[in-house]
Amino acid sequence: MDEADNDHKNENFEIQPNDIYDEESLPTPLDRKNSLLDTYKEIEDKFCDPDNPVIITMESVIAAAFANRGGIIKTPCTKSQMSNNLGMHLYFKKEFLQITGSFKERGARYTLLMLSAEEKKNGVIAASAGNHALALSCHGNDLGIQVTVVMPVIAPIMKIQACQQYKANVIVKGENIAESRIFALKLAKENNYTYINGFDHPNILAGAGTMGLEIVEQVPDMDCCIIPIGGGGLIAGSAVAIKFLMPKCKIIGVESESCASYSAALANGKPIFTSPNSTLADGLAVPIVGFNAFATAKNIVDEVITVSENYIALSILRLVEQEKAVVEGAGVVGLAALLQGKQEELKGKTVVVALCGGNIDTPALGRVIERGLAADGRLIKFVVTVSDRPGGIADLTRLIASIGVSIKEIFHERAWLASNMFAVKVKIIAETKGPSHTKELKDLLALYYDEVFWGNNVH
Ligand SMILES: Cc1ncc(COP(=O)(O)O)c(C=O)c1O
Repeated sequence: MDEADNDHKNENFEIQPNDIYDEESLPTPLDRKNSLLDTYKEIEDKFCDPDNPVIITMESVIAAAFANRGGIIKTPCTKSQMSNNLGMHLYFKKEFLQITGSFKERGARYTLLMLSAEEKKNGVIAASAGNHALALSCHGNDLGIQVTVVMPVIAPIMKIQACQQYKANVIVKGENIAESRIFALKLAKENNYTYINGFDHPNILAGAGTMGLEIVEQVPDMDCCIIPIGGGGLIAGSAVAIKFLMPKCKIIGVESESCASYSAALANGKPIFTSPNSTLADGLAVPIVGFNAFATAKNIVDEVITVSENYIALSILRLVEQEKAVVEGAGVVGLAALLQGKQEELKGKTVVVALCGGNIDTPALGRVIERGLAADGRLIKFVVTVSDRPGGIADLTRLIASIGVSIKEIFHERAWLASNMFAVKVKIIAETKGPSHTKELKDLLALYYDEVFWGNNVH
C-alpha cells in the first residue's frame, strides 16, 4: 500500500449526532419514516436506480466465479443428519465456513476486484450491520483497498471490532441500516469513495450468484433450493445461476415475518419501505429490498415464505445439536421454513438449504438456545400450590426428580395466597427431554396436586 493510501487510512470522520435529524424536535416514528423515504429518493446510489433497475445475467455470475477463484472458499454442501426426520434428501450449503463467516465475501471481493485503478485508490464505503461490512473489510485489507463502513448503533460490538482488526475505518451512526446508508452515501459524495450496497450493487449480486453455481455442481440432482432473503441480493444472483443451469429446480425464498420486505415488494409490484421489527435474523432486517435484486429475482423465484421467531430459534438449536454447526438467525431461516412444516410437497425430494452465515455472538447464542429449548417443549414453566408444612416443597422436588426432570429455577411465595394460610405457591422452570417427557410430568403432578398451572403466562 503506498503512502497516499496510508494517509487516507488515518483520516478521522467527525460524527455529528444531529447530522440527519434535529433530535430536539423529536420526530414521531411516522415523521422519521417519511423523512427517511424522502432522503432515500434524494441521495442517489448510481448503481441502484429505482427507475432503471439492472437485471443481472449468467455471464456476470460466471465472470464473478472466474475473478474470485483462489480468493473465496468453496464451502462444502453436505447431506444433513436431519434428512430422515424431515423425509427428504436434505443438503446444507455451509457458507458460514467462509473466513468472515458469511457468503457476503463472494460479492464483496468481486466488486472490489472490478473497481478501476482510481476507484481502488480512492477507497470504498458501505453501510452494514455486520456481514457485508466484515466481508468488505477483510477483502479490502487483502487487496490493499481502504474500506470505510458505517454501522448502525445496534451492530454487535464483536462485528465492529472485527472490522477494525481488518483495518477498516468504522463509523457507528444511525438508528437502523437505512439511516446508516444515508450517512454513508453523503460521505461517499464528499470524499469520492465508491459506495457499495451490500445487497443491490450489480457486482454484489453477480458475486453472490457464485454460491448458486457451486450448489449446482455439488448437488446435480437438486429439486429445490431454499435461500434466505434480506435485501434480496443472494437469492437474485443464485437464482440466475440455478435457473440457467437447472430450469426445473424450484427456488424458495425465506424471510423473517418480522421484516417481510420482499413479500411487501411482491404485493406492491416494486420495492416498498417496510418498518422492520426486531428479529433474531438481524441480517435480514432490511427495510426495503434492492431494486436490482428485486427486478432480477421476481420472475425466477418460485415462492417466498415467512418464518416466525420461534422457528428461527429452534433451527439454531437443531443445527448446534444435530449438525455441530453454529449458524446465525439470518442464516437458518431456510431450515426454519422446513421445521415450520409448510413445505409438504418437498417430501422425498432433494432439497438444498443455504446456511449463509455464522456470526452470532456468544451471549446471544445462549439466549437463543434457551428460547429454542422452550419452543421445542424442553424448557418448561409451571406453578404448583403445595403444603407450607415442613417437607411440602421437598416432596414436590422429589416427585419431579423421580422421573428425571431437572429443575433450573425455583421461586416460592406465600403473601398473596388468600385462600389457604397453610399453602405456598411454587413457580418452577425445568428442563425435560421433550414433549412426551413433559406430558409424563404433567400427568404425575396432576395425581398429587390440585392446583397446577402451565405455560408462558404463569406468574
Ligand atoms: C447470514 C445472512 N444470510 C442471508 C442474508 C440475506 O442476503 P441478502 O441481503 O442478499 O438478501 C444476509 C444478509 O446480510 C446474511 O447476513
